[in-house]
Amino acid sequence: MAALRVLELYSGIGGMHQALKESCVCAEVVAAVDVNTLANEVYKHNFPSTPLWAKTIEGITLKEFDRLSFDMILMSPPCQPFTRTGLQGDVSDPRTKSFLYVLDILPRLQKLPKYLLLENVKGFESSSARNELLRTLETCGFKYQEFLLSPTCLGIPNSRLRYFLIAKLHQEPFFFHVPGQLETAEEMVRKHTQDNDPSIQMIKDFLEEENEEMSQYFLAPKSLVRYAFLLDIVKPTCRRSTCFTKGYGHYVEGTGSVLQTAVDIQLESVFKHIENLTEEGKLMKLSTLKLRYFTPREIANLHGFPPEFGFPDKVSIKQCYRLLGNSLNVHVVAKLISILLG
Ligand SMILES: C[S@@+](CC[C@H](N)C(=O)[O-])C[C@H]1O[C@@H](n2cnc3c(N)ncnc32)[C@H](O)[C@@H]1O
Repeated sequence: MAALRVLELYSGIGGMHQALKESCVCAEVVAAVDVNTLANEVYKHNFPSTPLWAKTIEGITLKEFDRLSFDMILMSPPCQPFTRTGLQGDVSDPRTKSFLYVLDILPRLQKLPKYLLLENVKGFESSSARNELLRTLETCGFKYQEFLLSPTCLGIPNSRLRYFLIAKLHQEPFFFHVPGQLETAEEMVRKHTQDNDPSIQMIKDFLEEENEEMSQYFLAPKSLVRYAFLLDIVKPTCRRSTCFTKGYGHYVEGTGSVLQTAVDIQLESVFKHIENLTEEGKLMKLSTLKLRYFTPREIANLHGFPPEFGFPDKVSIKQCYRLLGNSLNVHVVAKLISILLG
């Protein structure tokens, strides 16, 4: 059987490529496209034989797309125009331009791809960009299914609620099509984000061994005292963690959980009456928790990247956090690829 020719748009560090590999589909990424130099370095490090186009998507001509003769598109367009915390510029945000260009190109291709998978943030489902996407897919004769999914649905202790769309050309509707699928999935996510659900693995399964190098990940005293009440603290035995974003390790609030490595200390006892203490007293108490950031490797583990996936030496820890924060959960996408091709 001839390998499926896959076009990976907005390829970043290659989360989609990794998921394609995991799905065991007989496929070849014929081109990966991204403008981010650093992300491209990581991509090349891990997928050296894949043609990587370090250029803007809107700079690729119809002819060039046609020449690739691809059967499948995997893509994660920039999500800032659709995030709840962002300005929600949607189609008027300049960062959506390249995606609208893809939608414009799609019906004009000599040969339509048979399959398409798109990932974006929660919020995309109510955007005009999504309406444009559905309109284009319907015009071209695709059947599609949308999802809001988080890795917790697969028993992974990390929340990362994302919008997914899978589409198939000229086929029967997917058999799992359920009206209101998006809401159903959201409820499931809420249920799975509790800390006592035994169907979810413990954080400890994703951790590196503690060693001297870990010292660089411990929270600085200033952050500890200033942001103690904003931290989401998890123990290795917890079955949850919050979404790791690109600001992790740099900004504290809402960027991802931190790990309590002193497992015998009761969190409640540390925080009890802490507000009455002096700065020094607060620091003394908080330090007993031995809080540290998750390492990039640990976040990669939670995202489903295999041990052999790596970062070139020149990529700093902060840069790793940024790139991983922009990436996706490999296991979730691998499952969707299997369903799509199933
Ligand atoms: C959400 S991230 C995708 C992450 C990717 N799936 C991964 O696993 O790392 C979006 C990516 O799109 C790239 N990008 C944004 N606008 C682009 C454009 N106009 N042309 C090409 N790449 C673009 C960014 O550099 C970024 O790496």
